[in-house]
Amino acid sequence: MTIRAVVKGVGHYLPTRVVENAEFEESLDTTDEWIRARSGIERRHFADESETTSTMATAAAQKALVMAGLDPSDIDALILATSTADFTFPSAATMVQAQLGMKSGFAFDVQAVCAGFVFAMANANALILSGQARRVLVIGAETFSRIMDWTDRSTCVLFGDGAGALILEAQEADGTAQDRGILSTDLNSDGTYRDLLYVDGGVSTGTTGHLRMQGNQVFRHAVEKLAATATTAMERADVTEDQVDWVVPHQANIRIIQGTAKKLGLPMERVIVTVQDHGNTSAASIPLALSVGHERGQIKTGDLLVTEAIGGGLAWGAVVLRW
Ligand code: ACO
Repeated sequence: MTIRAVVKGVGHYLPTRVVENAEFEESLDTTDEWIRARSGIERRHFADESETTSTMATAAAQKALVMAGLDPSDIDALILATSTADFTFPSAATMVQAQLGMKSGFAFDVQAVCAGFVFAMANANALILSGQARRVLVIGAETFSRIMDWTDRSTCVLFGDGAGALILEAQEADGTAQDRGILSTDLNSDGTYRDLLYVDGGVSTGTTGHLRMQGNQVFRHAVEKLAATATTAMERADVTEDQVDWVVPHQANIRIIQGTAKKLGLPMERVIVTVQDHGNTSAASIPLALSVGHERGQIKTGDLLVTEAIGGGLAWGAVVLRW
Protein backbone atom coordinates (compact mmCIF):
# COMPACT_ATOMS: atom_id res chain seq x y z
CA MET A 1 0.00 0.00 0.00
CA THR A 2 1.25 3.46 -0.89
CA ILE A 3 -0.08 7.03 -0.94
CA ARG A 4 -0.79 8.90 -4.19
CA ALA A 5 -1.77 12.54 -4.80
CA VAL A 6 -5.02 12.10 -6.74
CA VAL A 7 -6.93 14.79 -8.69
CA LYS A 8 -10.21 15.70 -6.95
CA GLY A 9 -11.16 18.83 -8.86
CA VAL A 10 -10.10 21.19 -11.63
CA GLY A 11 -11.23 24.63 -12.75
CA HIS A 12 -10.12 27.70 -14.65
CA TYR A 13 -10.78 31.38 -15.12
CA LEU A 14 -10.19 33.52 -18.21
CA PRO A 15 -10.72 37.30 -18.33
CA THR A 16 -13.65 38.34 -20.51
CA ARG A 17 -11.57 40.63 -22.75
CA VAL A 18 -10.48 38.66 -25.83
CA VAL A 19 -7.89 40.19 -28.15
CA GLU A 20 -7.65 38.76 -31.67
CA ASN A 21 -4.32 38.84 -33.54
CA ALA A 22 -5.69 41.44 -35.97
CA GLU A 23 -5.85 44.02 -33.14
CA PHE A 24 -2.03 44.11 -33.05
CA GLU A 25 -1.93 45.08 -36.74
CA GLU A 26 -3.17 48.55 -35.73
CA SER A 27 -0.16 49.38 -33.54
CA LEU A 28 2.65 47.04 -34.66
CA ASP A 29 4.43 45.94 -37.85
CA THR A 30 2.86 42.47 -37.64
CA THR A 31 0.08 40.42 -39.19
CA ASP A 32 -2.46 37.83 -38.10
CA GLU A 33 -0.83 35.47 -40.66
CA TRP A 34 2.67 35.85 -39.11
CA ILE A 35 1.43 35.24 -35.56
CA ARG A 36 -0.64 32.19 -36.57
CA ALA A 37 2.07 30.68 -38.76
CA ARG A 38 4.96 31.17 -36.30
CA SER A 39 3.16 30.48 -33.01
CA GLY A 40 -0.28 28.94 -33.66
CA ILE A 41 -1.83 31.72 -31.54
CA GLU A 42 -5.10 33.25 -32.80
CA ARG A 43 -6.34 35.14 -29.73
CA ARG A 44 -5.63 35.64 -26.03
CA HIS A 45 -7.44 36.99 -22.96
CA PHE A 46 -6.23 40.13 -21.16
CA ALA A 47 -7.17 41.04 -17.59
CA ASP A 48 -9.08 44.29 -17.08
CA GLU A 49 -7.98 46.91 -14.54
CA SER A 50 -9.88 45.28 -11.69
CA GLU A 51 -8.35 41.84 -12.25
CA THR A 52 -5.06 40.61 -10.81
CA THR A 53 -3.23 37.31 -10.56
CA SER A 54 -4.78 36.69 -7.12
CA THR A 55 -8.37 37.46 -8.18
CA MET A 56 -8.10 35.18 -11.23
CA ALA A 57 -6.46 32.46 -9.12
CA THR A 58 -9.30 32.72 -6.59
CA ALA A 59 -11.94 32.38 -9.33
CA ALA A 60 -10.23 29.26 -10.75
CA ALA A 61 -9.81 27.77 -7.25
CA GLN A 62 -13.49 28.28 -6.44
CA LYS A 63 -14.45 26.26 -9.54
CA ALA A 64 -12.05 23.43 -8.61
CA LEU A 65 -13.50 23.38 -5.06
CA VAL A 66 -17.05 23.10 -6.44
CA MET A 67 -16.05 20.16 -8.68
CA ALA A 68 -14.32 18.47 -5.73
CA GLY A 69 -17.29 19.13 -3.43
CA LEU A 70 -14.92 20.70 -0.89
CA ASP A 71 -14.82 23.87 1.20
CA PRO A 72 -11.72 26.05 1.58
CA SER A 73 -11.47 24.75 5.16
CA ASP A 74 -10.86 21.24 3.76
CA ILE A 75 -7.59 22.39 2.15
CA ASP A 76 -4.30 21.98 4.06
CA ALA A 77 -1.95 23.75 1.65
CA LEU A 78 -2.29 26.22 -1.22
CA ILE A 79 0.54 26.52 -3.75
CA LEU A 80 0.34 29.26 -6.38
CA ALA A 81 2.69 29.12 -9.36
CA THR A 82 3.19 32.63 -10.73
CA SER A 83 5.80 35.11 -11.94
CA THR A 84 3.31 37.99 -11.82
CA ALA A 85 2.25 38.14 -8.18
CA ASP A 86 0.13 41.22 -7.36
CA PHE A 87 2.87 42.61 -5.07
CA THR A 88 6.51 41.91 -4.24
CA PHE A 89 5.10 40.52 -1.00
CA PRO A 90 2.98 39.09 0.55
CA SER A 91 2.76 36.06 -1.69
CA ALA A 92 -0.18 36.00 -4.09
CA ALA A 93 -0.96 32.60 -2.52
CA THR A 94 -1.75 34.15 0.89
CA MET A 95 -3.92 36.76 -0.85
CA VAL A 96 -5.86 33.92 -2.51
CA GLN A 97 -6.06 32.17 0.87
CA ALA A 98 -7.75 35.31 2.30
CA GLN A 99 -10.03 35.78 -0.73
CA LEU A 100 -11.20 32.15 -0.42
CA GLY A 101 -11.89 32.63 3.29
CA MET A 102 -9.42 29.84 4.08
CA LYS A 103 -8.32 30.47 7.67
CA SER A 104 -6.29 27.31 8.28
CA GLY A 105 -3.39 25.60 6.54
CA PHE A 106 -0.54 27.37 4.75
CA ALA A 107 0.01 29.06 1.39
CA PHE A 108 3.06 30.03 -0.66
CA ASP A 109 4.08 31.00 -4.20
CA VAL A 110 6.33 28.99 -6.49
CA GLN A 111 8.25 30.96 -9.10
CA ALA A 112 9.58 28.89 -12.01
CA VAL A 113 8.09 31.02 -14.79
CA CYS A 114 6.40 28.88 -17.49
CA ALA A 115 7.48 25.68 -15.72
CA GLY A 116 5.87 26.93 -12.50
CA PHE A 117 2.86 24.63 -12.48
CA VAL A 118 4.98 21.53 -12.95
CA PHE A 119 7.21 22.68 -10.06
CA ALA A 120 4.11 23.41 -7.94
CA MET A 121 2.63 19.96 -8.65
CA ALA A 122 5.91 18.32 -7.66
CA ASN A 123 5.91 20.33 -4.40
CA ALA A 124 2.29 19.40 -3.71
CA ASN A 125 3.09 15.75 -4.36
CA ALA A 126 6.03 15.89 -1.94
CA LEU A 127 3.87 17.50 0.78
CA ILE A 128 1.25 14.77 0.33
CA LEU A 129 3.71 11.85 0.19
CA SER A 130 5.54 13.12 3.30
CA GLY A 131 2.26 13.39 5.22
CA GLN A 132 2.50 17.17 5.71
CA ALA A 133 -0.73 17.80 3.82
CA ARG A 134 -3.74 15.70 2.86
CA ARG A 135 -5.36 18.07 0.37
CA VAL A 136 -3.40 20.61 -1.67
CA LEU A 137 -4.86 23.32 -3.91
CA VAL A 138 -2.37 23.88 -6.74
CA ILE A 139 -2.94 26.98 -8.87
CA GLY A 140 -1.21 28.53 -11.87
CA ALA A 141 -2.17 32.17 -12.51
CA GLU A 142 -0.57 34.98 -14.50
CA THR A 143 -1.13 38.52 -15.73
CA PHE A 144 1.70 38.67 -18.29
CA SER A 145 -0.13 41.57 -19.99
CA ARG A 146 1.29 43.75 -17.16
CA ILE A 147 4.94 42.94 -18.06
CA MET A 148 4.71 43.29 -21.84
CA ASP A 149 6.64 45.86 -23.83
CA TRP A 150 3.84 46.81 -26.25
CA THR A 151 6.39 48.12 -28.77
CA ASP A 152 8.20 44.74 -28.98
CA ARG A 153 6.38 42.72 -31.64
CA SER A 154 8.55 39.65 -30.98
CA THR A 155 7.08 39.16 -27.47
CA CYS A 156 3.84 41.10 -26.88
CA VAL A 157 1.79 39.11 -29.40
CA LEU A 158 2.64 35.80 -27.72
CA PHE A 159 1.33 36.08 -24.16
CA GLY A 160 -2.05 36.09 -22.39
CA ASP A 161 -3.63 36.13 -18.92
CA GLY A 162 -5.61 33.49 -17.02
CA ALA A 163 -5.64 30.96 -14.21
CA GLY A 164 -6.18 27.25 -13.64
CA ALA A 165 -6.47 25.23 -10.43
CA LEU A 166 -6.21 21.59 -9.42
CA ILE A 167 -7.01 19.92 -6.11
CA LEU A 168 -4.86 16.95 -5.14
CA GLU A 169 -5.84 14.59 -2.33
CA ALA A 170 -3.92 11.82 -0.54
CA GLN A 171 -5.41 8.43 -1.37
CA GLU A 172 -4.22 4.90 -0.68
CA ALA A 173 -3.09 3.01 -3.78
CA ASP A 174 -1.36 -0.19 -4.86
CA GLY A 175 1.95 1.43 -5.80
CA THR A 176 1.72 0.42 -9.46
CA ALA A 177 1.55 2.38 -12.74
CA GLN A 178 -2.19 1.59 -12.79
CA ASP A 179 -2.80 3.82 -9.75
CA ARG A 180 -4.68 7.09 -10.10
CA GLY A 181 -2.71 10.19 -9.10
CA ILE A 182 0.80 11.53 -9.61
CA LEU A 183 3.08 8.66 -10.67
CA SER A 184 6.34 10.58 -11.15
CA THR A 185 7.93 14.03 -11.41
CA ASP A 186 11.12 15.40 -12.98
CA LEU A 187 12.43 18.93 -12.33
CA ASN A 188 15.42 20.74 -13.87
CA SER A 189 16.93 24.21 -14.12
CA ASP A 190 20.06 25.83 -15.50
CA GLY A 191 20.65 29.44 -14.44
CA THR A 192 23.38 30.02 -17.02
CA TYR A 193 20.60 30.56 -19.60
CA ARG A 194 19.27 33.61 -17.72
CA ASP A 195 19.72 36.00 -20.65
CA LEU A 196 17.50 34.00 -23.03
CA LEU A 197 14.33 34.93 -21.14
CA TYR A 198 13.98 37.42 -18.26
CA VAL A 199 12.19 40.51 -16.98
CA ASP A 200 14.41 43.61 -16.86
CA GLY A 201 12.88 44.90 -13.61
CA GLY A 202 12.47 43.94 -9.98
CA VAL A 203 13.67 44.87 -6.52
CA SER A 204 17.22 45.64 -7.75
CA THR A 205 15.93 48.19 -10.29
CA GLY A 206 12.93 49.61 -8.45
CA THR A 207 10.73 48.96 -11.49
CA THR A 208 8.36 46.20 -12.55
CA GLY A 209 10.15 45.79 -15.86
CA HIS A 210 9.28 44.11 -19.15
CA LEU A 211 9.70 40.61 -20.53
CA ARG A 212 12.73 40.16 -22.78
CA MET A 213 13.16 36.99 -24.82
CA GLN A 214 15.49 35.60 -27.45
CA GLY A 215 12.62 33.52 -28.84
CA ASN A 216 14.54 31.51 -31.40
CA GLN A 217 17.19 30.56 -28.79
CA VAL A 218 14.53 29.45 -26.30
CA PHE A 219 12.86 27.51 -29.11
CA ARG A 220 16.08 25.57 -29.74
CA HIS A 221 16.24 24.39 -26.13
CA ALA A 222 12.53 23.74 -25.81
CA VAL A 223 11.87 20.66 -27.95
CA GLU A 224 15.02 18.84 -26.85
CA LYS A 225 14.61 19.55 -23.11
CA LEU A 226 10.84 18.94 -23.05
CA ALA A 227 11.15 15.56 -24.79
CA ALA A 228 14.01 14.58 -22.45
CA THR A 229 12.17 15.51 -19.24
CA ALA A 230 8.95 13.81 -20.41
CA THR A 231 10.91 10.65 -21.23
CA THR A 232 12.62 10.67 -17.81
CA ALA A 233 9.28 11.12 -16.03
CA MET A 234 7.70 8.29 -18.04
CA GLU A 235 10.60 5.97 -17.22
CA ARG A 236 10.24 6.83 -13.51
CA ALA A 237 6.50 6.12 -13.68
CA ASP A 238 7.20 2.82 -15.47
CA VAL A 239 4.98 3.73 -18.41
CA THR A 240 5.65 3.86 -22.15
CA GLU A 241 4.59 6.32 -24.87
CA ASP A 242 1.97 3.95 -26.29
CA GLN A 243 0.18 3.90 -22.90
CA VAL A 244 -0.14 7.71 -22.75
CA ASP A 245 -3.67 8.99 -23.39
CA TRP A 246 -2.86 12.72 -23.32
CA VAL A 247 0.18 14.93 -23.43
CA VAL A 248 -0.76 18.22 -21.75
CA PRO A 249 2.13 20.51 -22.71
CA HIS A 250 2.92 24.08 -21.75
CA GLN A 251 1.16 26.13 -24.42
CA ALA A 252 3.82 28.52 -25.78
CA ASN A 253 3.99 27.72 -29.48
CA ILE A 254 2.23 25.09 -31.62
CA ARG A 255 5.53 24.32 -33.39
CA ILE A 256 7.19 23.46 -30.05
CA ILE A 257 4.17 21.34 -29.08
CA GLN A 258 4.27 19.50 -32.44
CA GLY A 259 8.05 19.06 -32.37
CA THR A 260 7.99 17.63 -28.84
CA ALA A 261 5.11 15.25 -29.63
CA LYS A 262 6.98 14.04 -32.72
CA LYS A 263 10.15 13.46 -30.71
CA LEU A 264 8.14 11.49 -28.15
CA GLY A 265 6.52 9.43 -30.95
CA LEU A 266 3.02 10.63 -30.01
CA PRO A 267 0.42 11.75 -32.60
CA MET A 268 -1.15 15.23 -32.22
CA GLU A 269 -4.53 13.51 -31.70
CA ARG A 270 -3.27 12.69 -28.21
CA VAL A 271 -2.13 16.23 -27.35
CA ILE A 272 -4.35 18.80 -25.59
CA VAL A 273 -3.95 22.09 -27.50
CA THR A 274 -5.30 25.43 -26.27
CA VAL A 275 -2.54 27.79 -27.46
CA GLN A 276 -4.75 29.11 -30.29
CA ASP A 277 -7.25 30.53 -27.78
CA HIS A 278 -5.08 31.44 -24.77
CA GLY A 279 -1.63 32.33 -26.12
CA ASN A 280 1.22 31.68 -23.68
CA THR A 281 -0.18 32.10 -20.16
CA SER A 282 3.07 30.93 -18.53
CA ALA A 283 2.39 29.00 -15.28
CA ALA A 284 -1.35 29.08 -15.95
CA SER A 285 -1.13 27.27 -19.27
CA ILE A 286 -1.04 23.65 -18.05
CA PRO A 287 -3.87 23.91 -15.49
CA LEU A 288 -5.89 25.87 -18.08
CA ALA A 289 -5.29 23.07 -20.62
CA LEU A 290 -6.19 20.41 -18.02
CA SER A 291 -9.42 22.19 -17.15
CA VAL A 292 -10.40 22.89 -20.78
CA GLY A 293 -9.43 19.33 -21.80
CA HIS A 294 -11.63 17.98 -19.01
CA GLU A 295 -14.48 20.35 -19.93
CA ARG A 296 -14.26 19.28 -23.61
CA GLY A 297 -14.65 15.65 -22.49
CA GLN A 298 -11.16 14.73 -23.73
CA ILE A 299 -9.57 13.95 -20.33
CA LYS A 300 -11.45 11.19 -18.45
CA THR A 301 -10.99 9.36 -15.17
CA GLY A 302 -8.24 6.74 -15.53
CA ASP A 303 -6.48 8.46 -18.45
CA LEU A 304 -2.67 8.55 -18.34
CA LEU A 305 -1.35 12.13 -18.72
CA VAL A 306 2.11 13.58 -19.29
CA THR A 307 2.51 17.30 -18.58
CA GLU A 308 5.71 19.11 -19.55
CA ALA A 309 6.88 22.74 -19.50
CA ILE A 310 9.91 24.99 -19.98
CA GLY A 311 10.41 28.65 -19.21
CA GLY A 312 12.65 31.38 -17.88
CA GLY A 313 15.60 30.27 -15.81
CA LEU A 314 15.79 28.17 -17.82
CA ALA A 315 13.60 25.86 -15.73
CA TRP A 316 11.83 22.79 -17.09
CA GLY A 317 10.15 19.61 -15.94
CA ALA A 318 7.43 17.01 -16.36
CA VAL A 319 4.77 15.24 -14.29
CA VAL A 320 3.15 11.91 -15.15
CA LEU A 321 -0.26 11.34 -13.59
CA ARG A 322 -3.30 9.17 -14.00
CA TRP A 323 -6.47 11.32 -13.94
N1 ACO B 1 5.39 39.96 -36.58
C1 ACO B 1 6.13 39.95 -37.68
N2 ACO B 1 7.44 39.65 -37.68
C2 ACO B 1 7.99 39.35 -36.49
C3 ACO B 1 7.26 39.35 -35.29
C4 ACO B 1 5.89 39.68 -35.37
N3 ACO B 1 5.09 39.70 -34.29
N4 ACO B 1 8.07 39.01 -34.27
C5 ACO B 1 9.28 38.78 -34.79
N5 ACO B 1 9.24 39.00 -36.15
C6 ACO B 1 10.34 38.89 -37.12
C7 ACO B 1 11.69 39.03 -36.48
O1 ACO B 1 12.02 40.39 -36.34
C8 ACO B 1 12.56 38.31 -37.48
O2 ACO B 1 12.82 39.19 -38.54
P1 ACO B 1 14.27 39.23 -39.25
O3 ACO B 1 14.47 37.86 -39.81
O4 ACO B 1 14.12 40.31 -40.26
O5 ACO B 1 15.24 39.55 -38.14
C9 ACO B 1 11.67 37.19 -38.02
O6 ACO B 1 10.34 37.57 -37.65
C10 ACO B 1 11.99 35.82 -37.45
O7 ACO B 1 12.16 35.93 -36.05
P2 ACO B 1 12.46 34.68 -35.14
O8 ACO B 1 12.51 35.11 -33.71
O9 ACO B 1 13.65 33.93 -35.67
O10 ACO B 1 11.14 33.79 -35.43
P3 ACO B 1 10.75 32.37 -34.92
O11 ACO B 1 10.33 31.54 -36.05
O12 ACO B 1 11.80 31.80 -33.99
O13 ACO B 1 9.44 32.64 -34.04
C11 ACO B 1 8.85 32.89 -31.71
C12 ACO B 1 9.48 33.52 -32.95
C13 ACO B 1 7.35 32.69 -32.01
C14 ACO B 1 9.04 33.81 -30.54
C15 ACO B 1 9.47 31.53 -31.41
O14 ACO B 1 10.87 31.65 -31.44
C16 ACO B 1 9.08 30.94 -30.07
O15 ACO B 1 7.96 30.60 -29.84
N6 ACO B 1 10.06 30.78 -29.17
C17 ACO B 1 9.87 30.12 -27.89
C18 ACO B 1 9.04 30.92 -26.95
C19 ACO B 1 8.90 30.11 -25.70
O16 ACO B 1 8.58 28.93 -25.73
N7 ACO B 1 9.17 30.69 -24.57
C20 ACO B 1 9.28 29.89 -23.37
C21 ACO B 1 8.23 30.09 -22.46
S1 ACO B 1 7.97 31.76 -22.12
C22 ACO B 1 8.32 32.01 -20.45
O17 ACO B 1 8.96 31.21 -19.79
C23 ACO B 1 7.89 33.30 -19.89
